[in-house]
Amino acid sequence: MATDRDKDVDMTPVSFAPPGPGGAKLDIPRTAQGAPDCALCQKHLHRHGPHPADVAYVSCVLHSFDDGTAVHLCGLDFCAHIGERTVLLGPNGAGKSTLLAHLLGLLKSDEGVVRVFGVDPHKEWRAIRQRVGVVLQNVDVQLIMPTVYDDICFSARQYGWERARIEAAATDIMKRLGISQLAGRTPQSLSGGEKRKVALAGALLTRPELLVLDEAFEGLDPASRAEIVNLLAELSRDEGVSIVLTTHDIDAVAEIADYCYVLRAGGEIVLSGTPAEIFEHADLLEASNIRPPILAELFERLGSKERPLTVADAVEVLAPAGNVVKSEASNNQP
Ligand SMILES: Nc1ncnc2c1ncn2[C@@H]1O[C@H](COP(=O)(O)OP(=O)(O)O)[C@@H](O)[C@H]1O
Ligand SMILES: [Mg+2]
Repeated sequence: MATDRDKDVDMTPVSFAPPGPGGAKLDIPRTAQGAPDCALCQKHLHRHGPHPADVAYVSCVLHSFDDGTAVHLCGLDFCAHIGERTVLLGPNGAGKSTLLAHLLGLLKSDEGVVRVFGVDPHKEWRAIRQRVGVVLQNVDVQLIMPTVYDDICFSARQYGWERARIEAAATDIMKRLGISQLAGRTPQSLSGGEKRKVALAGALLTRPELLVLDEAFEGLDPASRAEIVNLLAELSRDEGVSIVLTTHDIDAVAEIADYCYVLRAGGEIVLSGTPAEIFEHADLLEASNIRPPILAELFERLGSKERPLTVADAVEVLAPAGNVVKSEASNNQP
């Protein structure tokens, strides 16, 4: 349904150029700039449409499911910038997967604006699908081929890639994710963590510009989780890939997020900022059932004013005070 908001939005598709290796990040303000124009939530401020640097943009989307359940993704606008890792946080049922489903064109909104690479993904998914890689929360629904290898190659075959190119890319990505030994297995027989890695391999094989991961680390053991965290950092930093993901892994947020959005029950987007910025708002986080990272809690209980979010930061805080001896190993910690 067209709304007054749509009239304000520049519908022209924008061409995107990832910053690439060593490229500078774009410094685009994300704060609300427009006048309140949402009939459902006059209290909120919205920007007038996506900025060209927004790979993905969601503004005041209302979604009503068939059974009448409504999710109102409103409050702050959601903007994912090129080459950044943008993390969605919130309690179960807040609307994180619903937001991602809108980005992937799987759902049609009743109200509001959704843009991915400048187009409405529900209407123009075919135009952008080769630029987007996806791992759904329920990976079972996307692992449909008889073998892991076939599954990983599925999209590339659909896109008409040549066999040799597919083989080289599949070999490379399976090696990178440490799953080469699974190539001949049936996807449905794998563990949850193995399935997630296979789905990620399939999503990455065609080198998407935007990677969307729902519950990115679910089912992964600590070593696998650390590998995927590093891989996502490399993809973003070295290859300019934009990443939008959801997770409940609060202790990982500082390692995996350039920018975060916090949802509360019903879908309202109540908070956004860098990890350090959002963790300053303990009250808003608590209202979204989000506890502080374990390191921040430890330092608070110790009576420290510092709030390190990573082990490396904690060592930096403690070492000058003579409480710990900084070792080489501590520098390698995330
Ligand atoms: N297919 C559906 N039919 C009805 N309600 C749904 C459906 N999918 C999700 N919901 C509801 O929408 C709300 C948001 O769900 P979801 O986006 O999956 O939350 P999250 O990913 O944050 O846990 C929840 O109340 C959920 O029960
Ligand atoms: Mg979900």
